[in-house]
Amino acid sequence: MAKDVIIACDFSSKEDTFSFLDKFTDVKPFVKIGMELFYAEGPEIVREIKKRGHRIFLDLKLCDIPNTVKKAMSVLSGLDVDMCNVHASGTIAMMEAAVEGLTRPDGTRPLLIAVTQLTSTSEERMRNDLLIDRPINVVVAHYAKNAETAGLDGVVCSPLEASLVKENCGKDFLTVTPGIRFADGEIGDQVRITTPEKAREIGSDYIVVGRPITAAENPVEAYKRCVKEFLLKEI
Ligand code: C5P
Repeated sequence: MAKDVIIACDFSSKEDTFSFLDKFTDVKPFVKIGMELFYAEGPEIVREIKKRGHRIFLDLKLCDIPNTVKKAMSVLSGLDVDMCNVHASGTIAMMEAAVEGLTRPDGTRPLLIAVTQLTSTSEERMRNDLLIDRPINVVVAHYAKNAETAGLDGVVCSPLEASLVKENCGKDFLTVTPGIRFADGEIGDQVRITTPEKAREIGSDYIVVGRPITAAENPVEAYKRCVKEFLLKEI
């Protein structure tokens, strides 16, 4: 199974994004485009980054009625991204519709993963705001199982939940994990974090790394360090 480091390109403009990507001359990292950049620049930014040879995780976290999600996914599939996502809280029917919409006439499709519970949602908020009174691990495992039932490829989760997801859904079910920090780096606003090395040991398939790379003095070196610690590979 392919494992990789995905850089979260959390920039608000095309100019900032390209001046960052221009630093990478000998490697073409897998990048994540989130809502900020997509809403600022529109689908053209996806085409342009793709043209430069990067693989793309389009992180738009769709959640709507099944028919709407199906149609939106068929548009995203035409953008030729490599990975995209939905909220598992949209139900199994919505996730099934997402798979259907994403699948191209030739049967191929980008990887599709589901957000279980956002890592910003604590057990207390889940109970008080969402009236979900089960332990968060039970909810994450259940939502991951729903995603698997609907035919998705994996989930976005905290690296600390990756082994729980693998236990419930099997080793081939992908875990994509943000919340990564170097052992000697800044934590910022993330709470449940781990290092690239630890994420490898726990069984993450893809780590999503933003500021430890984008805000580093030398982003290319920081990226290479992530690859070395996570994939045990010198690039
Ligand atoms: O800068 P940092 O490494 O914290 O960036 C992490 C990226 O992963 C951001 O784009 C953030 O929105 C995203 N993310 C996250 N936690 C989630 C889902 C996505 O940090 N549960």
